[in-house]
Formats: sequence, structure tokens, C-alpha cells
Amino acid sequence: MSGESPFLVLGGRTGLLGQALTRALREAKREVLPVGREDFDPYDQDALRRFTERQGCRTVVNTVAYTAVDLAEEEPDNAFDLNERLPRLLGLSAAREGLRLVHFSTDFVFNGAKEEPYTTEDEPNPRSVYGQSKLAGERALFEAAPEQLAVIRTSWLFGPGKRNFVETILNLGANRPKLTVVADQFGSPTYTMDLARNTLRLLDAGGNGLFHLASCGKASWCELASEAVKLADLTCTVEPIPSSGWPQKAERPKYSVLDMGKFIALTGHTPRPWEQGLREYVFQELGLPNHRDD
Ligand SMILES: NC(=O)c1ccc[n+]([C@@H]2O[C@H](COP(=O)([O-])OP(=O)(O)OC[C@H]3O[C@@H](n4cnc5c(N)ncnc54)[C@H](OP(=O)(O)O)[C@@H]3O)[C@@H](O)[C@H]2O)c1
Repeated sequence: MSGESPFLVLGGRTGLLGQALTRALREAKREVLPVGREDFDPYDQDALRRFTERQGCRTVVNTVAYTAVDLAEEEPDNAFDLNERLPRLLGLSAAREGLRLVHFSTDFVFNGAKEEPYTTEDEPNPRSVYGQSKLAGERALFEAAPEQLAVIRTSWLFGPGKRNFVETILNLGANRPKLTVVADQFGSPTYTMDLARNTLRLLDAGGNGLFHLASCGKASWCELASEAVKLADLTCTVEPIPSSGWPQKAERPKYSVLDMGKFIALTGHTPRPWEQGLREYVFQELGLPNHRDD
């Protein structure tokens, strides 16, 4: 351990990204305290203060969120409670206690009308309750204005520790001759372990403010599914369909690739392409055999 204060990761025990951050911090020999509901209620500001004081934490990483994108259309109050009210409380606590706060947001704050990567300067215009609640959370945090605050928008996560799109596709693909997958929504699939390692790079570089951070590159859901099926050597075919062929309650952006120029300029590091993260996930984490011998 480096002797620095431990990182507190809210959602670090069970969340898709929280678990990756916990692992990446440990990999980097940093002390990390992953917490879940059983440790303390994240809304309880006194409990947070007692915990950070007792453990000597100076950095709080929040991955707790309402992430059920479609259900949020039916439960807007619940979505705003976790995605706006909680970050506001965390921001107020961080400002009061002088803590550094790291929070994650989403590409779904954009409406998808652009055809080139979204920068942090682009005006958000979310089309779903989830996107609106996440944007409200960003704004609440910048209002609460802790001195050291990083808000990181990311996109299309896959990785170990929790069910995600890639795992779902591989499970379905192992049992079905054919899958149909949406081919007219484009984003940046992002490997959680790469996002976690790059988050640490950002923090080590002293990043404050709003950042976009994902894996490099662009894909449709269909392209991501096809690549996963190919790596896993499954025989099922993946057929493209339009969004209209897969009706969902929440509207998704047609295009939400994130421009990471600000992160790259600060850290000097360019995230690796999503395809490389997918290979690490499929072969090293899921343990599938690599028949391609490369
Ligand atoms: N997943 C994506 O594709 C994606 C894309 C873009 C941005 N993001 C953003 O990235 C961040 C992390 O997302 P994720 O996919 O890792 O989320 P996730 O897997 O759904 O994890 C959410 C975490 O929040 C915890 N949580 C939920 N409600 C809670 C409550 N009332 N009290 C305490 N803990 C609670 C969950 O604990 P339990 O397990 O106990 O419920 C879990 O640990 C979020 O801010 C999300 O908006 C995600």
C-alpha cells in the first residue's frame, strides 16, 4: 500500500462498475473500501461522515445509481431519488467534509442527433427518464460544488461480476441458432476494467470537472454482439434489426459515441479499443477457449 488514504467505493461490492473499480484499485496497490447497502445507507450523511472519518477516507467514488433504463419510465421518482437526490447529498457531504468526490454519468444524457463524437461542451438533451435523472444528478453535483469533483460520463458497460449485455448475448447465443440485435444505435462499448484503470489515471492526474471516458471506437449493439459471438466461437448467427423491431419503453440515442479528448489531453493516455477489452473479458474473465490462437 502507498500510505495514502483509502478510496471509498459506494456500490463497490455488487455493482458492475463498482466491482471493477475495487479490483483495479487493488491491482494498482491502492487501498480501497468497497461498500454496499449492508455497510451503511448512502443517503445517511452522518453515517458517511462517521465512516470516512473512522477509515481516514479522503476520496469517495459513487457508482450507486438507478440503472434500469426502461423501468425508470414507470418509476421516475425512484430514478430521480437515486440519480439526483443521492448525488446532491453526496456533493453536500463532500463539500462540508472536504472530500474528493468521483461520480459516474451516462451517454444517455444526449439525444443522439449528432453524427460525430459528443464532447463535454455539447449540450445534453436526454430523451429518457433515466437520462434526465442522470443529467439532474450531474447538475446537482456541480451546484453542491465540492472543490474536488470529477463527473465521468461513460457508456455501454460490459465486464466481470454482474450480468451485462455481452454475457446475456453469449448465454442466449449458446442456446439459439439465431439472434436478432439492434443495428441502428451506435455507441462506445466499454470494458469496465479499462474504465476503472483509466478512472485511476484521471484521479492521479488531478482531474476535476466533467469528463467523457469509455473504450475507444464505435459499434452498434449488433456489431458488439457479433464480435462477442465470434470470439466465443458460437455457431449462432447474429442478424441486424432496426430499433423499431425491438420496442423498448425508454428511447435510446441513435448515436452516443463520446469524445475523450479532455481525458486524453490531461492524462496523455488513449483508452484502448473496445474490441481489445472484449477479448480480455471473453478469454480471461469468462475463461472461454481462444481457438484463434492469437
Ligand atoms: N451499465 C452501463 O451500461 C452504464 C452506461 C453508462 C453509465 N453508467 C453509469 O455507471 C454507473 C455504474 O453503473 P453500473 O452499471 O455499475 O450500475 P449497477 O451495476 O446497476 O450497480 C448499481 C449499484 O448501486 C447499488 N444500489 C442501488 N440502489 C441502492 C440503494 N438504494 N442503496 C444502496 N445501494 C444501492 C447497487 O447495489 P445492490 O446490488 O445492492 O442493488 C449496485 O451496487 C452508474 O452511475 C450508471 O449510471 C452505466
